[in-house]
Amino acid sequence: MATRKPMMAGNWKMHKNAAEAVDLVRAIGNDLDGSTAVEVVVCPPFTALKSVGVTLEYDKYEIKLGAQNVFWEDEGAYTGEISPLMLKQLDVEYVIVGHSERRQFFGETNDTVNKRLHAALGHGLKPILCVGENLEERESGRTTDVVAAQIKGGLAGIDGDFSESLVIAYEPIWAIGTGRVAKPEDANEVIRHIREVVGSLNGAETAQKVRILYGGRVKPGNVSRLMEEPEIDGALVGGASLSAEDFVSLIKY
Ligand code: PGA
Repeated sequence: MATRKPMMAGNWKMHKNAAEAVDLVRAIGNDLDGSTAVEVVVCPPFTALKSVGVTLEYDKYEIKLGAQNVFWEDEGAYTGEISPLMLKQLDVEYVIVGHSERRQFFGETNDTVNKRLHAALGHGLKPILCVGENLEERESGRTTDVVAAQIKGGLAGIDGDFSESLVIAYEPIWAIGTGRVAKPEDANEVIRHIREVVGSLNGAETAQKVRILYGGRVKPGNVSRLMEEPEIDGALVGGASLSAEDFVSLIKY
């Protein structure tokens, strides 16, 4: 059995200006005791990447920098988009791709997710590929089909063992930012299924090694139960990552 290093990734979404983001990452960094048992990632908005990145480098915190999206072209007439090269220049290491809010509000499809993944990997950025079903899909029993299609579409043409360079996050849409939490054993089951799909595409070894996070209302009160599940390798955290105290307690689950 492969041992997978747990990851806690904070998705700050459209919160925190540059100065507030620096305060938050300092508060998180100062509370961590240098333990490297868990890989910690923060994903501020684009406008705070530079200031957070400089802070991470200067203060030498064990925290990695992530972005929340990336475009697939290196440069060009694409108003409002951010290229992988631009992220690389800011020492960004991870990038969230295909978050359900992008799919829901900004027309992201499995095809555009796939293009973004290829571009990110091609530039040495590590994508955090998000998948997950909505309430209607869950209630009609289509969770595994939807998630399998998102994995297959997203990973199309990505060959070989990507377990060191890509992370998957399973986030049931009905549990994001709502009061509802997926049952840990149900989340574990879906993640086991995702691993099977990855195995059928890229081989059993990749499937065993790739980290798959859970996301959707992860909080200090439910994190340890979620982390007991054998398939859950960490969390992609929205709301609770905006409080240093909460996020640090997630990291120290
Ligand atoms: P939440 O968001 O933790 O606020 O539910 C999770 C996410 O959208 O990644």
